Amino acid sequence: MNAVKPQGESALLTRRRATLGPHSPTFYDEPLHLISGKGVWLRGSDGVDYLDAYNNVPHVGHCNPVVVKAIAEQAGRLNIHTRYLSVPVVEYAEALLATFAPHLDKVLFTNSGSEANELALRMARQHTGGTGVLVTDYSYHGNTTSLAELTTGLRVKEPFGSHVRALRIPDLDSDSRPEEVVLAEALAEAEAALASLQAAGHGVSALLFDPLFSTEGLLRPPAGYIASLTDLVRSAGGLIIADEVQSGLGRAGSHFWGHELYGIAPELVTMGKPLGNGHPLGGVVTTSDLLDEFGAANLYFNTFAGNPVSAVAGLAVLRETIGRGLQRGAQEVGGYARDLLEKLAARQPLVKSVRGTGLFFGLEFADETGRPATAQTKQIVEAMRCKGVLISKIGPHENVLKIRPPLVFEREHVDLLVDRLAASLEEL
Ligand SMILES: Cc1ncc(COP(=O)(O)O)c(C=O)c1O
Repeated sequence: MNAVKPQGESALLTRRRATLGPHSPTFYDEPLHLISGKGVWLRGSDGVDYLDAYNNVPHVGHCNPVVVKAIAEQAGRLNIHTRYLSVPVVEYAEALLATFAPHLDKVLFTNSGSEANELALRMARQHTGGTGVLVTDYSYHGNTTSLAELTTGLRVKEPFGSHVRALRIPDLDSDSRPEEVVLAEALAEAEAALASLQAAGHGVSALLFDPLFSTEGLLRPPAGYIASLTDLVRSAGGLIIADEVQSGLGRAGSHFWGHELYGIAPELVTMGKPLGNGHPLGGVVTTSDLLDEFGAANLYFNTFAGNPVSAVAGLAVLRETIGRGLQRGAQEVGGYARDLLEKLAARQPLVKSVRGTGLFFGLEFADETGRPATAQTKQIVEAMRCKGVLISKIGPHENVLKIRPPLVFEREHVDLLVDRLAASLEEL
């Protein structure tokens, strides 16, 4: 792998802009053109093999042969919409549900994370009779109209819903006060937000949150905060929706699903991104009671979700994840990465904190006055690309590196990543 200078704007980019328009986002000052992938490696049209430390969708590795074979074989046998009996979807549902706590014993498949969150909110509203939703500040849950109304982590034109409250999540990495003070203040804010939903007549249908706070910048709430927050929401009549689109399927390392980090039992869990390793696949896992209530009142039909090709893709991903012990790997390799990153942070004054859980971590950058080092963070992301490593940035100030590789990332890849990161920081 050689250092590389990005090429000039390609004819492909011009054609893309001419057809998809200028607003379709691309990464990097000079967009990267990728032509193939294998495991944790991506080959660019410039002939460079890039280490992928960014993409969580290819959970079991780019072009994982087991997944590719399953998709190809099923696509060659039968693919059809979901109103016929089919073995793969039932097999996949059984295997997926076996990874959840016993009360979560039903699944509805979707084609994306957005669709899953939309459906979960719909179920919560119908069950509770409320419309109020509590989300976390600077979050993203998808691209539908009702999800746009609760988006604060991305630019949207839709006004923030009057039925939504965005809760500031306490973060021990940026708040140096005693943990119990931070906790008490944050819970008081949650109570106030719930009371204001009630007072405005919206009621409370749900708390919708991402257990790793991926868009928010990998926050670290005080112990007991999430459990107490979910108690408050339930007391106000709402349900808990854990958005596991980013945090699920072993990524958190110590637990298979992110919400398990907090010992809570959500009524609804939504999934997407890694489920099909790139094949569009999402879902909502819930209880029998909630599904029965929803099913009795609505004929929910989804043409593509749960089709046999998607189902075999999901099953292959799940089997690879479990069979290869990737959750344990995420914990071990993630722990190893954290150690190295903490050593690096100790040498680099720009690094304010090392954040993250399992194989999802970030470095927070701030200048000597404590202000978010947004420009430098972008420079690091660009410099890493020039050194053949793909990462990105998150958080309200875009000053937290987003490092979230496929789960087949190993120690040797961490060494390479940290080595290039150290060199990029030296160059700043
Ligand atoms: C936490 C979270 N939830 C939901 C979504 C939406 O998923 P999709 O893009 O598959 O609709 C995303 C996408 O980035 C996400 O990060």
